[in-house]
Amino acid sequence: MASTFPVQGSMGGTQPVVAASARSAIYEDSTVRLFSLAAVLWGVVGMAVGVLIAAQLTWPELNFGISWLSYGRLRPLHTNAVIFAFGGCALMGSSFYVVQRTSQVRLFMPKLAAFVFWGWQIVILAAAITLPMGYTQGKEYAELEWPIDILIAVVWVAYAVVFFGTIGIRRVRHIYVANWFYGSFILAVALLHIVNSAAIPVGFFKSYSAYAGVQDAMVQWWYGHNAVGFFLTAGFLGMMYYFIPKQAERPVYSYRLSIVHFWALIFTYMWAGPHHLHYTALPDWAQSIGMIFSLVLLAPSWGGMINGVMTLSGAWHKLREDPILKFLIVALSFYGMATFEGPMMSIKTVNALSHYTDWTIGHVHAGALGWVGLITIGTLYYLIPRMFGQTKMYSVKAIELHFWISTLGIVLYIAAMWMAGVMQGLMWRATNPDGTLVYSFVESVKATFPFYLIRLVGGLLYLSGMGVMVWNVIKTAQAGSYVPVRIPAAHVAVPNVAPSAA
Ligand code: HEM
Ligand code: HEM
Repeated sequence: MASTFPVQGSMGGTQPVVAASARSAIYEDSTVRLFSLAAVLWGVVGMAVGVLIAAQLTWPELNFGISWLSYGRLRPLHTNAVIFAFGGCALMGSSFYVVQRTSQVRLFMPKLAAFVFWGWQIVILAAAITLPMGYTQGKEYAELEWPIDILIAVVWVAYAVVFFGTIGIRRVRHIYVANWFYGSFILAVALLHIVNSAAIPVGFFKSYSAYAGVQDAMVQWWYGHNAVGFFLTAGFLGMMYYFIPKQAERPVYSYRLSIVHFWALIFTYMWAGPHHLHYTALPDWAQSIGMIFSLVLLAPSWGGMINGVMTLSGAWHKLREDPILKFLIVALSFYGMATFEGPMMSIKTVNALSHYTDWTIGHVHAGALGWVGLITIGTLYYLIPRMFGQTKMYSVKAIELHFWISTLGIVLYIAAMWMAGVMQGLMWRATNPDGTLVYSFVESVKATFPFYLIRLVGGLLYLSGMGVMVWNVIKTAQAGSYVPVRIPAAHVAVPNVAPSAA
């Protein structure tokens, strides 16, 4: 039966009455909305656990002697929650939004998209229960046991069907570059997950890796590094290529560079994994290949960063007034920082100092809080009002406040970890003339205490910023309601693409 509902036209105004049969002319945004809200929720949860483990490293007694509150169990809960729940929901939601707008069609198989949302939430809940209980495969960022791994694979295949299906039915000939980045993220993560999770189950909650010894380590860090490259980077670059031009109302600085950026980045990332295994049983030549490809990676990473930042050419003044742009552009500067530091840390002699120290943790969070966190938050501030029929968030001042609190938090966090890391590395290698160690290990732990305290303050600030966001999201949701958006009737070129490429 034909039902009617108001529709937001492509020019923004609300138009009445569209028959149900014309639903195919409406973007399918309900999963986008659910994913956006879930990203905010899981961001708060994951970061709260991050703050708790940061406090535990400062005062270990904060585990209260309870096994499921112990650091070793909560640490993987933190990493899984922030990467796969917070980051994953933001990536899935934003990719569904972007692929529809740039293909100018309704999402392919909307019911399957709903399955992707609910399936992913079940994966997250299963992780939140089993990790504190101590069930783990013991592989970093791939801790979840085999039944959950199978569910992840099923949900991921469904996600791929919806995304690539939408590209398949697109009404725009050109496939916009953001979709290439999202698409490579989806394909690469499927490959990484299936290969690295291969295991032989010996019970419902216990399995052994299909690989042994150094091969196991290499497969794991091929996975681990490409989880950084494709989960924490390529997908978010997809966000960058859509939301920065949109928010700045400028075309991408160089569309040609974006294509070079894409191919160079995805080719190079795949080979850099061995830099996680310097000075191990891995053959020397493999370690050197990892180092060389990591150094090469600086070029496409910075090419992409420059392309994003220069998109503001002629519109720099917008940075002063628009806090969403601040989030998006400052994210890119942290991306530049992390992708300069990473290649440096991959040089074997530098890694001899940085490995095992908090320098690595500083590097991780320059990427995680600075790049992944800020670009996601900026994107969510763009998406959420649109999911409630608004053009902007309830309070723009609160976005500005969020930006400054979180930037200060990141600076405290990463500066403290860099100082702590270099100090630890130097203390561990200091020797007396007779060859004995100058410092015992516990002395380095005691010397790290003030830096852990500063990191905790930084983490608390970042988390408080998320609190401000939650308030703003609730207010925005209360002030509006979901207004379906009409797909432009005419075959219009994708906005913000250089004319030659559209
Ligand atoms: C309030 C914000 C956060 C705080 C306080 C925090 C705190 C921590 C702490 C204390 C650790 C353990 C460090 C160690 O083992 O010595 C850690 C690890 C980690 N965190 Fe966070 N975190 C936060 C946000 C994030 C976000 C948003 C992400 C990703 C998007 C992230 C990704 C990671 C990763 C990947 C590790 C493992 C690093 C490694 O093994 O080298 N964190 N975090
Ligand atoms: C050109 C790009 C990059 C290169 C070459 C690179 C290189 C490195 C190196 C050499 C390490 C230390 C390995 C060790 O000593 O164990 C490392 C650790 C790490 N990096 Fe990067 N990095 C890059 C960008 C990024 C970005 C953008 C992020 C986050 C968004 C990131 C996240 C991580 C994480 C999570 C770890 C810790 C892994 C672990 O031990 O658990 N990296 N990276």
